[in-house]
This record gives sequence, structure tokens and C-alpha cells, in this order.
Amino acid sequence: MIDGFGRRIEYLRVSVTDKCNLRCVYCMPEDGLPWLRRDQLLTYEEITRIVGAMAPLGLRRVRITGGEPLVRRDVAALAGMIASVAGIDDLALSTNAVLLDEHAGALKAAGVRRLNVSLDSLRPERVDALARRPGTAARVMAGLAAAEDAGFEPIKLNVVLMRGANDDEIADFAALTRERPWHVRFIELMPTGANLALSANAFVSCTEALERLQGIAELEPVAGPPGNGPATYYRFPDARGTVGVITPMSHDYCERCNRMRLTADGQLRPCLFGHLQTDLRNPLRRGEDLVPLIRETLRVKPERHWLVQGSDVGSGGLVALSQTGG
Ligand code: 5AD
Ligand code: SF4
Repeated sequence: MIDGFGRRIEYLRVSVTDKCNLRCVYCMPEDGLPWLRRDQLLTYEEITRIVGAMAPLGLRRVRITGGEPLVRRDVAALAGMIASVAGIDDLALSTNAVLLDEHAGALKAAGVRRLNVSLDSLRPERVDALARRPGTAARVMAGLAAAEDAGFEPIKLNVVLMRGANDDEIADFAALTRERPWHVRFIELMPTGANLALSANAFVSCTEALERLQGIAELEPVAGPPGNGPATYYRFPDARGTVGVITPMSHDYCERCNRMRLTADGQLRPCLFGHLQTDLRNPLRRGEDLVPLIRETLRVKPERHWLVQGSDVGSGGLVALSQTGG
């Protein structure tokens, strides 16, 4: 799959639900969002058929996301179905890890190879406050332990940087990579409809994060763990893990974009932001051929996103990343 700007698209992020068991301050409003109805959601069979239609066109890697994917029943079954599609050679999952201790073993057995876990602080009381759910930190730690026991490697931690909330922990997160083989990725806060005040006031650039770390020890650029994402990686001398940065706001990585997104209700989105999406659910349910729709979505994939700091004009009406799978 080659898009209109010559980019090779081999990676699909599949959102299996828009719901979440947390309410992270930068993502979901406290009261949640108007959830999709059950009949709007793609079934696991439908998701597998869409992946099966894209694989012969060149799809190679899939990531299961949400909302929080583990709130949907038996996601390991879906993982197994996707992993057995001919041509798909890499399957990963993004999770907040709250339910991971129950599911880690089954996910590994089903063919999930890599995990990304969201963790915005190393201080339990802060984790709970940022997620607006008491008890979150303890669950996440249990989930990470279960993931290690199940043999997941690499484990990547996603840290959304927010001034006054966790930017004083940049060094602590980086120090963790000396002790553990974990890959800590700092992510720049992106503006969406639900977080405009926060994203305007609390933005911390990854350039600033790296500058602060360079003051502690020399960070050397490294290739980083296997993955499909836009992160750039560094390592402290002798560290077991790496420090990565994901810079949607201060740098443009769109020219290297390799992905499309499938929302939980079956919209194929060529870009995280913007209005463009193609409905695959209804054509699929009518028994139509999806290939021309997939090709058309690829053809209109935009050159870049137009996010603007402190504004949602570029987000294309997106209220939260949970709606498209992050
Ligand atoms: N800006 C940056 N990162 C975000 N995430 C969710 N919402 C935002 C936002 N507005 C992160 C989550 C998760 C990843 C998929 O995206 O924390 O780690
Ligand atoms: Fe849930 Fe992830 Fe959004 Fe947090 S960032 S509320 S864990 S979907």
C-alpha cells in the first residue's frame, strides 16, 4: 500500500472499543463520552475480515488499541484471529494495564508480541489522580509484573508530559531505564476538544525533556526497540532500557508515517487527526468489496496533520484520542 505521497503503509491500529475504565485528565472528560452502541461496533469477525482484506495489499503489522482494549470481552480471542491472518507478522497491544494481570498470559499465547503501557507518573497517588480512579497505580504495577512474567519484551511505557503534573519526574522515569529493560517514551500532549485548557497550559516539549536529561548524563542516540512508531530513542551509558521521545507538536514525523487507523465502529482513518474517514462497516455488512474503499482512503491520506498548540482547529472535531485509538 503506497499512499499519494509515496509513503509505504504497512501498519494498522485497530481500536476495539471507545470505552475506558480510566479518565486520564488529557484524554477523557470525567463523565466519559457518548459511547458507541453495541451494534455500531465491529465484531471480531468483521475486524478480522478487514485485516484480511488489507493483508494482500501490503498490511504487515497490527496494533490493538481502544479506548482501553481490555475492557472489551476476550480480546485475546481477537488477537488470535488477527495473528492467524496470512501476511500479518507483528501484533502489538496498547493498554493502561489496569486489567493486564488477568489477560497477559492469554494475550501472549494468542500471538501478541509487544506491549505499550500508559503510565504518566511513578508516584501512586499521582497515577490515581491523573487517571481520576483510585487504585489505578496498584493495578498497573500488578499488570506490568504479569506482563514481565508472561515474557513480553519489549515493554514500552508511554508518559504524556504535563507541566506541574509530572514534568518533575522526567529524570525518575529516565533513571528507571537503568534498572529495568523498559523503554520509556515521553509523549507531547496533543490538543483535542476535551483537553484544550490543559493542552494550552501544561504543554512540555520533548526538546525540553531531553535537555533536562542531558544535564544528568550523556544520552546517546540508539536504534531503540523494535516497533512501528514515530519515537526517537536514546540511552544512558550502561542502561538496560531506553528513553524515547514522541514529538507530534514540536517536530513533523508525518513524512515517515506508515499507518492507518480503524475505529471501533469501522471507520478507516488515514490520519489520527482531521475529518477524513471511510466507512467500512456498512459496505462490509452489505457484502461489498472493501478493496476500492481501502485504496481510496490510502489515496487521500493527508501529507501531514495540522495540529496547533492550544487549539482544536487541527484536530478535526476529535474530542479525545480514545475515539480513534491514539
Ligand atoms: N496527547 C498525547 N498523548 C495522548 N494519549 C492519549 N491522549 C493523548 C493526548 N491528548 C496517549 C495515551 C496512550 C497513547 C496511546 O496516547 O496516554 O499512552
Ligand atoms: Fe483511557 Fe487511555 Fe484515555 Fe487514559 S488515555 S482515559 S487509559 S483511553
